[in-house]
Amino acid sequence: MQKFFAVIAFALFTLGVFAAEPPHWAYPIVVDKPVAPGADATGAVQIPGSARSYTYAQIDDLMNPPDWFPDSHAPAPNVVKSGAGKTVLACGACHLMSGMGHPESSHLAGLTADYILRQLADFKSGARKDPTRMNGIAKDLSDEDAKQAAEWFATLKPLPWTKVVEADSVSKSFIGKGRMRFVLPDGGNEALGSRIIELPQDALNAARRDPRSGFIAYVPAGSLARGEALVKNGGGKTLACGACHGPQLKGLADAPSIAGMSPLYTYRQLHSLQTGARGGASAAMMLPVVAKLSEDDMIAISAYLGSLAP
Ligand code: HEC
Ligand code: HEC
Repeated sequence: MQKFFAVIAFALFTLGVFAAEPPHWAYPIVVDKPVAPGADATGAVQIPGSARSYTYAQIDDLMNPPDWFPDSHAPAPNVVKSGAGKTVLACGACHLMSGMGHPESSHLAGLTADYILRQLADFKSGARKDPTRMNGIAKDLSDEDAKQAAEWFATLKPLPWTKVVEADSVSKSFIGKGRMRFVLPDGGNEALGSRIIELPQDALNAARRDPRSGFIAYVPAGSLARGEALVKNGGGKTLACGACHGPQLKGLADAPSIAGMSPLYTYRQLHSLQTGARGGASAAMMLPVVAKLSEDDMIAISAYLGSLAP
């Protein structure tokens, strides 16, 4: 019997039924080294332009994250500022109080409340998988808190946040504290290859959850032109995105805005839609879009979309 299962498993394996592990560069879940620039400072620190100061213990308190510019947004609901119960972590910790998030999480600014609520429902049911973060948070989130958070994030205007740069090589880097990628001190360079490497523009401030300190996404040379062709007319491999996401790609009906997002986040979504890790009724609309895309196509599309104004 055991031999029988081994034969079946081998047959499935050779048919490619067991999907490869998702790439570590795009899914920064395992931390390489739990350090961040400046995070060993004792006492309160500041960021440019803010009158507030916080200690690192406060900056990394996922139940009460810093709000560096409280006047830049409408008063936030409690669940955004301080979570709920023991398991619903404050949305503002990872998505920031600007809603722009980090490449390892996501932007929420610029999305509609309906779209945000639908994603929370899909995380809750497990149709969309993010087991280390959003599945648990959405499962324990009350309907009222979900509604308040979605309506508040929908009021935030997206900011220019990620600069997209074509490159053949990048500084060596590692996944650090909070799953952010940082340059390895004295690490030299390495080939970029078929990857997107997204690094903070200012590591010190980004690690302090500065909502004005954005990112640089290094993408393979040629990605922007290749991505533009796929996005605008499908290149025979996919559907033109504007048909559903609107002519400016800023969202239409159920299809959200996809302009000016972190290329790392966008790539992760296209990859998860293709493997089925992101499912759900609305996500089904994306299946014919991703079905025939290669890794390099998905990288190119993500690079081009990230280069547009949000
Ligand atoms: C500990 C970090 C963390 C916290 C706290 C957190 N999130 Fe998230 N969130 C993530 C990550 C990581 C993703 C990206 C998952 C992926 O790549 O698919 C995400 C994605 C999302 C998305 C999908 C965005 C899109 O464009 O489809 C929504 C909606 C969302 N979160 C809402 C919330 C809300 C509301 C809260 C507060 C109740 C919250 N999150 C708290 C980490 C977090
Ligand atoms: C047939 C309509 C349709 C077409 C064509 C389409 N999309 Fe979508 N797309 C959707 C819908 C609907 C959603 C929302 C899915 C959900 O609610 O989970 C979506 C979601 C997405 C997301 C996730 C956004 C986020 O914040 O997580 C990305 C990325 C995306 N589409 C990229 C593209 C790209 C790139 C193209 C063109 C190559 C494209 N889409 C073409 C309908 C479409």
